[in-house]
Amino acid sequence: MNNFPDLIVKNIGLLATPEGKCAKKGKEQGKIKLIEDAFIAVQGDTITGVGTEEQLKALEKQRNFCYKTQIVDAGGSLVTPGLVDPHTHLIFSGWRQKELSLKLKGMSYLEILKMGGGILNTVKNTRRASLEDLIQNGRTALDRMMTHGTTTCEVKSGYGLNVEDEIKSLEAIRELNKIHPMELVPTFLGAHAVPEEYKGKTGEYVELINKQMIPRVAGEHLAEFCDVFCEQGVFSVDESRKILECGKNHGLIPKVHADEMTSLGGANLAAEVGAISADHLIHAGDEGLCAMAEKSVVAVLLPGTSLFLNESFARARTMIEMGIPVALATDFNPGSCPTESLQLVMNLACMKYRMIPEEVLTAVTLNAASAINMASTIGSIEPGKQADIVIWNAPDLDFIIYHFGVNLVKTVIKKGKFTVN
Ligand code: NIG
Ligand code: FE
Repeated sequence: MNNFPDLIVKNIGLLATPEGKCAKKGKEQGKIKLIEDAFIAVQGDTITGVGTEEQLKALEKQRNFCYKTQIVDAGGSLVTPGLVDPHTHLIFSGWRQKELSLKLKGMSYLEILKMGGGILNTVKNTRRASLEDLIQNGRTALDRMMTHGTTTCEVKSGYGLNVEDEIKSLEAIRELNKIHPMELVPTFLGAHAVPEEYKGKTGEYVELINKQMIPRVAGEHLAEFCDVFCEQGVFSVDESRKILECGKNHGLIPKVHADEMTSLGGANLAAEVGAISADHLIHAGDEGLCAMAEKSVVAVLLPGTSLFLNESFARARTMIEMGIPVALATDFNPGSCPTESLQLVMNLACMKYRMIPEEVLTAVTLNAASAINMASTIGSIEPGKQADIVIWNAPDLDFIIYHFGVNLVKTVIKKGKFTVN
């Protein structure tokens, strides 16, 4: 530490963090750094020092900080990196609680969509909503996410499904990134469903995406990634490939909603097009997973969606054994997973995927950051990384999984500033 820190977090009972600037796979995913009685020094928005209380005392003796340094006492609690949510659909208008009774009567998600409900219902409401409405709804969701420990999230468009309303959705994300402390990474998901006016004309809708939406989105720098809902009755593998290749030609990095409800070949496609992540993967077969392992495609798993759709759970243990980096996300959306809480997702990953708490921490920090191309700046607590920090009402990682269903976040620091306290 050459310069005076602006902030010192001290009396950390246990600091738990993965290390490095890229995704962890295989056995490495469960290896995290643990420091008892630790401190973190921050200057501006960057971590400048991490060590033990002993080392902090030595620094104090050298008078290595000045009277302006703010000292925060973590009260002997657990401290981790800010959580990263690499898959959300938080730009929408209208909740869909009415679908709950249909689902309880046995109707499937894809049947509801076929009837014009599901995503298409949210599309109707989102098209009617103004930019300001979307920003307001988004802000409420982001507040909740941050209260639960998330400091960075990916956000998809995908409830506009025409040029104007997809652009409006991406503009809402851009605006939220300016006005909210949460860091947002935008994804274009014009291929989330085929809108009513193109029913039976999927090919024409794909043309609209490729000829009008993608050039405009890329031209206005409104997204970094291009995603497709590659699913039976939605977009086929061939249609998805066309869209992702077009996105790539315009500088958008591919992502895929892959093998969520059926085994269509989304995992294979993700590997083939060089996607940064393949998401869901509930029904991904061995061949697709092998292809992902070979290309180091990050698996973004969404156990909250499995729970809420009453579906089976992705084969996380197999993926880890195969050497695929596993990340976790909420999938926050009004249909298949209406929750903003990554803490719930962490609990489900342990209980249903049989991931260990250390693997889970890596999955919601460094590996999640890799899934959105940000592992060089966020996802761990190390000198040089951005100061995104969570202080927990918990003594260790196990406690976060164990004491479930309640919010255990005490304090959130984003880019060196207190956002939840
Ligand atoms: O990831 N699968 C497609 N998209 C979302 C659901 C969106 C919705 O139902 O509104 C998902 O599960
Ligand atoms: Fe999704």
